[in-house]
Amino acid sequence: MRKPYFLLKTPPTTPEPAEKLAPWAETTVVGKPLPRVDAYERVSGSAVYALDLFLPDMLYAAILRCPHAHAIVKKVDTAAATKMPGVRAVLTDSDTEARIPWYFTEKGPTSRLFDPHCRYEGEEIAAVAAETPHQAADALRAIVVEYEELPFVVDLDSALKPGAPLIHEGGNQVEGTLVYERGDIAKGFADAEAIVERTFRTSCEIHTPMEVHGSVAKWDGNRLTVWDTTQGVFQVQQSLADALRLPLSNVRVIGQYMGGGFGSKLEISKHTVIAAILARKTARPVKLFISREESFLCVGNRPANTMSLKAGVRKDGTLTAMHLINRGAVGAYPGWAGVGSQVADLYTCAHVRVEETCGHINAGQERAFRAPGFPQCSWALEQVMDELAAAIGLDPVEFRLTSIPVVSQRQGGKPYTSTGLRQCLVEGARAFGWDAARGGHRRNGPWLRGAGVAACQWGWPGGPPSTVIVRYFADGSVSLNMGASDIGTGTKTIMAMVVAEELGVALDRIQIEHADTGTTQYATPSGGSKTVPSDSPAVRAAAVAVKRKLLAMGAEQLEAAEDEVVLKAGEILVAGSPDKKVRLAELEGLMNQQVVIGVGHREQNPLDKVTKPFGAQFAEVEVNERTGEVRILRLLGAHDSGRVMNRLTYQNQVFGGMTMGIGFGMTERRVLDRQTGKMVNSNWHDYKIPTAMDVPADLTCVPIDVPDNEFNSTGTKGLGEPATIPTAAAIANAVYAATGIRVTDAPINPTQLASLLADQRKRG
Ligand code: MOS
Repeated sequence: MRKPYFLLKTPPTTPEPAEKLAPWAETTVVGKPLPRVDAYERVSGSAVYALDLFLPDMLYAAILRCPHAHAIVKKVDTAAATKMPGVRAVLTDSDTEARIPWYFTEKGPTSRLFDPHCRYEGEEIAAVAAETPHQAADALRAIVVEYEELPFVVDLDSALKPGAPLIHEGGNQVEGTLVYERGDIAKGFADAEAIVERTFRTSCEIHTPMEVHGSVAKWDGNRLTVWDTTQGVFQVQQSLADALRLPLSNVRVIGQYMGGGFGSKLEISKHTVIAAILARKTARPVKLFISREESFLCVGNRPANTMSLKAGVRKDGTLTAMHLINRGAVGAYPGWAGVGSQVADLYTCAHVRVEETCGHINAGQERAFRAPGFPQCSWALEQVMDELAAAIGLDPVEFRLTSIPVVSQRQGGKPYTSTGLRQCLVEGARAFGWDAARGGHRRNGPWLRGAGVAACQWGWPGGPPSTVIVRYFADGSVSLNMGASDIGTGTKTIMAMVVAEELGVALDRIQIEHADTGTTQYATPSGGSKTVPSDSPAVRAAAVAVKRKLLAMGAEQLEAAEDEVVLKAGEILVAGSPDKKVRLAELEGLMNQQVVIGVGHREQNPLDKVTKPFGAQFAEVEVNERTGEVRILRLLGAHDSGRVMNRLTYQNQVFGGMTMGIGFGMTERRVLDRQTGKMVNSNWHDYKIPTAMDVPADLTCVPIDVPDNEFNSTGTKGLGEPATIPTAAAIANAVYAATGIRVTDAPINPTQLASLLADQRKRG
């Protein structure tokens, strides 16, 4: 498999735009709280998601998965399954077309599509395609597999011990310990007047998007079309082309609606390739959707981390040194479970050392999960910041304000294009009523109340490549053609607003063609919170290119110079001559041509600067000192993500991120049974995600609406991921403020907290 674009060493590019666009001064559409352009079709059920697709002659496929944590497949007997009613194809490792290398690393593949060495519960053994989903399920049960069960490890400590069962030949440690160092931490700790040192643990979290993963595959000769639940159609196109050895142009991937991914749909999954092979084998379209249970086992997770963090501070609030040692379990296949960059970059600190070691366990592979690594890092870093503040007698907000960076210490001291961290803390605290909320312990019967804060920074800025086409039709309606997926965040709405801003067209006159490799322009996957900062400048450039052409037509018709004319409310006007104007509908050039086309590219990021979104979140909780129950009373998120493009979708992201943060901090945990190696809570009943009962009604979004005009032509930075980074840590700090108990292991749950409260009572 080819390397994904985000692992390339050189920055990707698209052609530089013809003109450097000046930042918007005032906007009429951008920034407004507008509802989604596709809201009606989404809520009414008329939007066609991949699962809704029914093609004539379509078969249904299902995958047989290994029930053991670690096993060798000795024999797969498909004779009975093949003869079952309705079965049209059975696929196993014995079929040459299924011998596809899988899991890319620098050194080559580590496995294959149906690998006889099964390294986790849920690994693919065989697949069938049948006339109905039920016949497919029955056929799976008729496949007889002989396994040799192997010893397994489901926790990293055991996996890294000598003599542990080997998951890969080279050993269970992922090669290399990543070390980042600047300054001299020994010197920094010697300078400290207070030092805090603690070990924190986070739990493995599963994405569980509402829409499970699946694909519909159809061949037309040697041309493959796949409707997929993906965050990036071009990413899936490339992976499919590699796996099936097809030219990119023979693979069309369509993903126009999707129901949440959170990173689990950022890369291709095996089921998509399996659907394509089965469709070719049967010469029929094939639909393959995984079950909810499979989605818990096989399509990624946020890995568990153990983080030891030591930090030193002087009484004036200067951070003197930080030392983080992180260990993370990536699961059975290549991945990375690092967490470190906020320790190195969020606050000013001269002496920093980060050591990260990752290892394999017999469990599903980690995948990008909404701000990969960052909520884990926050859990440790922001709780240590809270303790340091207490140690030197500073308010936690005041303390953070002493260490606001204006340069990226991690990236060679390059300045940030914008740093809104101070405003996030100050304006967030003001809106939250921080001082009042911190004013002493308040008790209400057994309920103790407290407030906490945590800040964050996010890593990826976004950038090229991105190409967009805008077409302006003779009747004044517009087509926006872009490759980006709208993964539920409101991407389409924001892009349409950019077009409306430049061309003065009503939103309902703009149709969007997107996320189809056959008909739309190249875009990177919607991940890393980079879709708006990557693609909206290309949309703007395309809309401006259209506007320039319309203005040139107007100038010609009005016999004016091109720099004298302006476009306003559907008319081209000549500055200073009120009666020299023409409506776009009467523009001769447009009538002659019937359509005006503008192509836009994403400009390169400034190379001498670094761009990061920042944020600060505030939580107020009540803890029951008898039962350990925690009630989250309110949450506030203040974020610097550059320009606010749409006040409503912005707020949706902040509320959604905080909700997910409640899950990470309070309820979510993959439980692997030590006796069997199997996941015991692979369903929505036993795996607890926050419900309406767990999310406070009192949620506040405070946008720090400062356009980052140095970064790109729309002034936008990413938001979706930052919004979930500090939530759990803010809640943990609030729990500490309420109880005096530092909860180091996430998720905070009543059992754990009740026992910590009991210990505290014993100590008196
Ligand atoms: Mo995101 S975790 O980059 O989809």
